[in-house]
Amino acid sequence: MNNEAPLRIGIIGYGGMGKYHTDRLRKLGIMEIVGAYDCDPVRLQAAKADGMIAYSSADALLGDNSIKAVLIATPNDIHCEYAIAAAKAGKHIICEKPAALGVSEIDEMEKVAKQNGVILTVHQNRRWDGDFIAAKQIIESGVIGKVYQIDSFVCGANGIPGGWRKTVKAGGGMMLDWGVHLLDQIFCYKTESPEYLYCEYSHALGFDVDDGFNVKLGYKDGLTVNVRVDTNTFATLPRWIIYGRDGTAVIKDWALNGEITLPVYGSEVEIVGIEAGNGFTKTMAYRPHESVRTREIPKPVVDYDTFYKNFIASIQGKEKPCVTVESVRKILRVMELCNQSAKTNTVITKELKSL
Ligand SMILES: NC(=O)c1ccc[n+]([C@@H]2O[C@H](COP(=O)([O-])OP(=O)(O)OC[C@H]3O[C@@H](n4cnc5c(N)ncnc54)[C@H](O)[C@@H]3O)[C@@H](O)[C@H]2O)c1
Repeated sequence: MNNEAPLRIGIIGYGGMGKYHTDRLRKLGIMEIVGAYDCDPVRLQAAKADGMIAYSSADALLGDNSIKAVLIATPNDIHCEYAIAAAKAGKHIICEKPAALGVSEIDEMEKVAKQNGVILTVHQNRRWDGDFIAAKQIIESGVIGKVYQIDSFVCGANGIPGGWRKTVKAGGGMMLDWGVHLLDQIFCYKTESPEYLYCEYSHALGFDVDDGFNVKLGYKDGLTVNVRVDTNTFATLPRWIIYGRDGTAVIKDWALNGEITLPVYGSEVEIVGIEAGNGFTKTMAYRPHESVRTREIPKPVVDYDTFYKNFIASIQGKEKPCVTVESVRKILRVMELCNQSAKTNTVITKELKSL
């Protein structure tokens, strides 16, 4: 990318994601992981074993003048505190998602970052997911005509993982974990504000935090978007279903299995009624094979390292951060409105005008 020395970076929180970023960045070679701080001695030892400095405190890491940037990969409730400390120490910041627990926190983080002249960005990596980009390509290509409904589903069967994700205090629950990605994708695709939002949380597993949710967004042009997450679904559901006037696209999974099904216009289709349970239907009869054709799901070529490269280019003043604080703030606000909708069992409308 350039001939400059790798950016020297420290990691706060050396758990699953701290280690994940380390492995990715070492392969990429554009950042040097100098060291890490984790409050758990076992994870601190792991950092040492992985060949980096194990700092005895976050202050020690932030006090190392050779470190230019910090990656925050702790539980969600302490992102804000560490981001503010890192900005005051003059370090550029990558913060894991969700950047904060709400709008007031991200506003404070942004203010301090600006005061100290450092870059603040957030690892909204799922903007580069192939399935999302393929879904967007299908819609924008017009192949299925005017799209009137999008279902974005992520349904697992493994419950809520990890200790802190099960607690409200640490910012657990699936809205903050997965909602922040899936809503971000929808608002990246469709930039205008929806006209209405309705949200329900699921507590099927009995924790204080949500173990799933349904969010419905309705837009002025007639589009409806359903975003659904569940952690107790044992059947495999499609990742995306996109309903267009002239076709239907199903993206089954992150490996981009699935197909686009299109009607064959002009073919003489005689709709034959079928037995349907204890009844009969013509309306809902399956299409005969000769009256539909299928196409493959597009396979976009995605550079998964764009986010990291952009962070460095932003520090060098060559690019603007591709994940802006403004876009992050918007999703935090949308999630606050989801909470409001679920709590009051109401459809949110007027608050969406000032998103
Ligand atoms: N972008 C993604 O795709 C993605 C995927 C998974 C997790 N995440 C995010 O990454 C962050 C970390 O998640 P994880 O899965 O790595 O969790 P994790 O539990 O595996 O790791 C968190 C680490 O932070 C440490 N920690 C806790 N409190 C601390 C404190 N006060 N100071 C320093 N260290 C502390 C823990 O000891 C642990 O090692 C979360 O914000 C999560 O939402 C992002």
